[in-house]
Amino acid sequence: MVERYDVVVIGSGPGGAMAARRCAQKGAKVAMIEKEYVGGTCLNWGCIPSKSLLASAHLLLSAKEAGELGIKISSAELDWPKIQQRTKQIVENFRKGMTQTLKNNKVAIIEGTAFAESSNKIILQRDKENLDIETDKLIIATGSQTIQIPAFAFNGETIISSKEALFLDEVPKSMAVIGGGFIGCEIGCAYAAAGSKVTIIEALDRLLPREDAWVGRLLTREFKKLNIDILTGQKVTGVEKTNTAAKVNLENGSAVDAQKVLVAVGRKASCDKQTVEALGLEMEGDVIKVNKKFETNVPGVYALGDVIGTTYLAHGATSEAEVAAVNVTGGEKQMYDYSLIPRVIFTFPEVAAVGKTEQECKTEGLDIAIGKAFFRADGRSVAHNELAGEVRAIRDKKTDKILGITMVGARVTELAVLARTLIGTQEIISDICFPHPTVSEVVGEAIENAFSTK
Ligand code: NAI
Repeated sequence: MVERYDVVVIGSGPGGAMAARRCAQKGAKVAMIEKEYVGGTCLNWGCIPSKSLLASAHLLLSAKEAGELGIKISSAELDWPKIQQRTKQIVENFRKGMTQTLKNNKVAIIEGTAFAESSNKIILQRDKENLDIETDKLIIATGSQTIQIPAFAFNGETIISSKEALFLDEVPKSMAVIGGGFIGCEIGCAYAAAGSKVTIIEALDRLLPREDAWVGRLLTREFKKLNIDILTGQKVTGVEKTNTAAKVNLENGSAVDAQKVLVAVGRKASCDKQTVEALGLEMEGDVIKVNKKFETNVPGVYALGDVIGTTYLAHGATSEAEVAAVNVTGGEKQMYDYSLIPRVIFTFPEVAAVGKTEQECKTEGLDIAIGKAFFRADGRSVAHNELAGEVRAIRDKKTDKILGITMVGARVTELAVLARTLIGTQEIISDICFPHPTVSEVVGEAIENAFSTK
């Protein structure tokens, strides 16, 4: 059996689904192929379930602190089965919603494992019979997978990835988290708030090493309040199974015992080797090489999202899909500056950053001024007893433009787009009205200070 489409998208994560939807909206006959669940890692094992878990954990913390706001709650307890059930329900509902939206946009959703025999011919491997698909254009959006280290390979029980960590049957008494990046910090935070004794082990000198040093310092201080132990500058050399759980061995000879070991040392692109070889795709290590229009070296074949190893962020992939869809359907568009894609981390407190970091500015030899502002001096934040954190805005002294904004504080992820709109601005900040009292005023204050700092 042969089916024919204008565009075939392999992978239904945020990148693939957005590319399929946009191409269909532009009039193309589109098929999207998925071997597991619609929504990919983000919806099924990443962004969405982790936010559900973090929301419950945060509410528990708030309930415990309610006395400070004059509310007596005699006992706040975790109902873990209910949290898990709710998380699964949220994922399922979004999966149904996403499937329906794609169908409404006339995208054909095809289940199965696809490999490309040529740029125009896709073979779909199915249990009973293979399906041949012919297409004019192909978009590869096959995502990424967790990096596995042989010295502490996953066993699905004691040594786990974020995929299992989000759906544990019970809250472990203790959890060792290898890697203090995005996943380690978010899941570590959720389990610490839920009552687990969490230890985060990070090889580099601080948490979230990709951000400026002050972010890691501030998070370390706040994580200690959650009773999280943080071991930075410590590389894990191996994990031994013990009778009760696991022993995580560190390079310096010490060890951490834990019931569960979460390995969160990064992700790597997932692309089908057979397809890469059959098409003769040019690679850069594990990732598919593309230009700014998301074209690969093979005419008519595009790639985007984690498989091209750019941002490893869901919204990075959707932004790329918006650009790629224009090119796939006959238009002309190039990807903009990647530093304008916000980084958001949903820890307690949250982290959000956009534009350049102080470190990047220094490396580039830019002459910068930094404006700071603090949540403890903000009316709304004080009213909510959310005092931790600050905002730093970086101004280029030469051009007088804002180059980067980094924020640590309650709900700063919701301010990421505000920060994004202010990057590159020379607008006089007092000409923008920040509603009072809101947490956004802290961003305004930091920018004002960046302009008044000589
Ligand atoms: P990551 O790259 O953010 O952090 C991994 C950390 O592990 C690094 O800091 C690294 O120095 C450390 N590490 C590596 N080997 C180690 C060892 N042997 N011992 C101790 N530490 C070691 O990767 P992560 O957290 O696994 O996340 C994967 C991707 O998923 C990220 O690139 C991120 O973009 C994405 N993600 C995004 C989220 C968001 O947008 N909120 C949430 C979760 C994940």
